[in-house]
Amino acid sequence: MTVSRARRSVFAVPGSSEKMIGKALEFRVDQIFLDLEDAVAPEAKELARQLISSAGQKKFKAPIVSLRINSIESTWFSDDIALLNSGIGRWVDSIVLPKVRHAADVHRVSELLQEIERSSNRDEGAITIDAQIESAEGLVNCEEIARAPRVTSLNFGPADFMADLGMTSAEVTSNEYALMKILVAARAAGIAAIDGPTLEVRDIAKFESSASIAAAMGFDGKWVLHPDQIDSCHKIFTPTQDRFDDASCLLEAYEYFTSTAGGAKGAAIYQGAMIDEASRKMALAIVSRGSAAGLHPTKHFQL
Ligand code: GLV
Ligand code: MG
Repeated sequence: MTVSRARRSVFAVPGSSEKMIGKALEFRVDQIFLDLEDAVAPEAKELARQLISSAGQKKFKAPIVSLRINSIESTWFSDDIALLNSGIGRWVDSIVLPKVRHAADVHRVSELLQEIERSSNRDEGAITIDAQIESAEGLVNCEEIARAPRVTSLNFGPADFMADLGMTSAEVTSNEYALMKILVAARAAGIAAIDGPTLEVRDIAKFESSASIAAAMGFDGKWVLHPDQIDSCHKIFTPTQDRFDDASCLLEAYEYFTSTAGGAKGAAIYQGAMIDEASRKMALAIVSRGSAAGLHPTKHFQL
């Protein structure tokens, strides 16, 4: 697994809040999305479209700026596509697509995005899709969704998922079965896997516990709903410098042992344990994730 771009934090900004959009300009997160879906009341959808249109001229610090449109089956979908056609399609990096049921949903949106790219003079495929898996049907079909055109990440939506399954727990939590299925589908397709939000924004311990579970499973990142969650999110989804250095030394050691000078060994003993090709791949996953987050090695392998 290699990671070329950090996707640790995905900040959700309600599109109908001018104040939040203004604050979000400064957020140093890996991705923000301006929301037209569930964080915006039906009566405020049009206001949100107007605010997002004018936000486009401003400059966000986040390297990926996305728009969450309403789902394909909703009555707002066509107006959201019209908004993309009216100018936002010129600058938006990706569409967060909620309530994806099967690959056909993605194909439909992908065709519409192709037209938007043509009319905005952008390269084909410039606007990617972050697919939300938040229903039983979406989870069952997440493998085909992960391989559908333009999809660069699967995002778990725990609240809608619980509602769809009829789960009655008062607390919204990420379900480990769903997370693992999403992770496997994403990795098989070579794309990112992102955990959904923790709703209790004042309870940082809860955010950290949920983020730690997702990070240990191998997820790339998590949704963030409040600025207080950003630092924890980055800390948890970035390898520590020690871990990064250990992994990077292991890669150097393995390169040496497999070379002619090092005896051309497939497996070797390094720091008391056997390392082989699988160890190299595990170390590479840590090094590529750390590098994408801006880490550099501070130690090197020595014989
Ligand atoms: C996010 O969209 C969720 O439903 O949890
Ligand atoms: Mg949802």
